[in-house]
Amino acid sequence: MQKVKIGIIGCGNISGNYIQNYRKFEILELAACADLDLSRAQALAEKSGSGAKACSVEELLADKSIQIVVNLTVPQAHTQVALQAIAAGKHVYSEKPLALTREEGKQILAAAKRKKVRVGCAPDTFLGAGIQTCRKLIDDGAIGQIVAGTAFMLCAGHESWHPAPEFYYKLGGGPMFDMGPYYLTALLNLIGPMQRISGFSRITRPQRTITSQPLNGKVIDVETPDHVAGTIEFAGGAIVNVAMSFAVHGNPHPPITLFGTKGALAVPDPNGFDGAVRVRYAGTKEWQDVPFTHPTGYGRSFGVADMAHAIVGKRPHRASGEQAFAVLDAMQGFLDASDKGKAYVIKAPYQRAAALPTTLAPGLLD
Ligand SMILES: NC(=O)c1ccc[n+]([C@@H]2O[C@H](COP(=O)([O-])OP(=O)(O)OC[C@H]3O[C@@H](n4cnc5c(N)ncnc54)[C@H](O)[C@@H]3O)[C@@H](O)[C@H]2O)c1
Repeated sequence: MQKVKIGIIGCGNISGNYIQNYRKFEILELAACADLDLSRAQALAEKSGSGAKACSVEELLADKSIQIVVNLTVPQAHTQVALQAIAAGKHVYSEKPLALTREEGKQILAAAKRKKVRVGCAPDTFLGAGIQTCRKLIDDGAIGQIVAGTAFMLCAGHESWHPAPEFYYKLGGGPMFDMGPYYLTALLNLIGPMQRISGFSRITRPQRTITSQPLNGKVIDVETPDHVAGTIEFAGGAIVNVAMSFAVHGNPHPPITLFGTKGALAVPDPNGFDGAVRVRYAGTKEWQDVPFTHPTGYGRSFGVADMAHAIVGKRPHRASGEQAFAVLDAMQGFLDASDKGKAYVIKAPYQRAAALPTTLAPGLLD
C-alpha cells in the first residue's frame, strides 16, 4: 500500500496516545518528531520505535517526504504552527481547537485553500465505533426524528493531574474550548447543522493552584470562563441543552442523551472511541445495549489516517477543517450569547461528513 509520511510537531502529553495508535493504520508512517524542547522530540521518536528522526520544527517542515504535519502543540500555538505547515506546502491536522478565534480559523482555511493543501482537526472520536453506531441508528430512523437532547461535561478541572495545566485556563482553554469540541462534533455528526445558540458563562474561581507535579503550588490566573451552559437549536428543529464545566464535583449525568419521536439514545462519552451504545424505545421500560456496527480498537490518529486515505483516494476527509470551524463558531457562540444577552445565530455552513462504511477491513479506511 502507498504510505503517507507524517511528522508530529508538539511532543507533550497527548503525543504518546498518537504514537500508540497511529500504527494501527497501515497507511501511516511516522517520519519525524519536533518540539520547541528537542529532548521531548527525542523521547517521542525513541518511544515510537519507528526509526523516526527527532528534529527542529524548521527541519521537519523542510523534509519534502513529509505530507501531513500533525500539530499537537498547545491551543495557543495551533494557528502559528498550522500556518507554518501550510506555508511549507504540507497538509496539516491539528489537535483541537482549530484556533483560538474565528478570525484565526478563517485565516488557516484560506491559507490552505490558496496552497491547495488540506486542513484536518481533532476530535476524531466521532469516527469510533460508539458514535458511528449511533449515527447509523439515527440515519436508519431507529429513534425517529430527534426532538431534544442533553450534553453534559461537568468536572473540577485539570490542575490536579496535567503536568502543565495553565493552558486550560487561558484563551482557547476552559471547558468549552477544551471539551466542547468532542461534544459539539458528536452532535453535529449525529444531528446535522446548528441554527442558534443561547449561552451563559462565568469565571467561578479567578485563580487556581496547581497540585500536580512538577508545578505543584504555582497559582494560575483564570482568564476564560470555567463554567458554560446554554442551548443549541438545530436546523432540523432539535433543541439540546449543554453544560461544560471545570468548576463542579460529583456529576451524575451521562455525557449525551438524544430523545427522538420513537425512542431515546444514550450516546457514549464523545472523548472516547468505543463506549457502549444504549437505546430505549418508546413504550418500553428498559434500556437495551446495541451491538457495534463498526470496528473497535482504534484511537487518536484515526482522523489523520482518514485524511491520508482521502489524499491518496482523492476524496473528502472526515475530520475536516470546515467541521472544526463550525465547532469553533459554535463554541464562541456560547460565549458571545452570554456576553451579549441574546442568541448567537450560526453563520458557518456545515455539512455532515460521510458516515464510515460498516465493511472496512482492519487497519484500512477505504
Ligand atoms: N492532554 C490530554 O489529555 C489531551 C487530550 C486530547 C487532546 N489534547 C490536545 O492536545 C494538544 C496538546 O495538549 P498536551 O496535553 O499534549 O499539551 P502539552 O503541554 O503536554 O504538550 C504540548 C507540546 O507542544 C510543544 N509546543 C508548544 N508550542 C510549540 C511550537 N510553537 N512549536 C513546537 N512545539 C511547541 C510544547 O513544548 C509541548 O511539548 C492541545 O491542543 C490539547 O487540547 C490534549
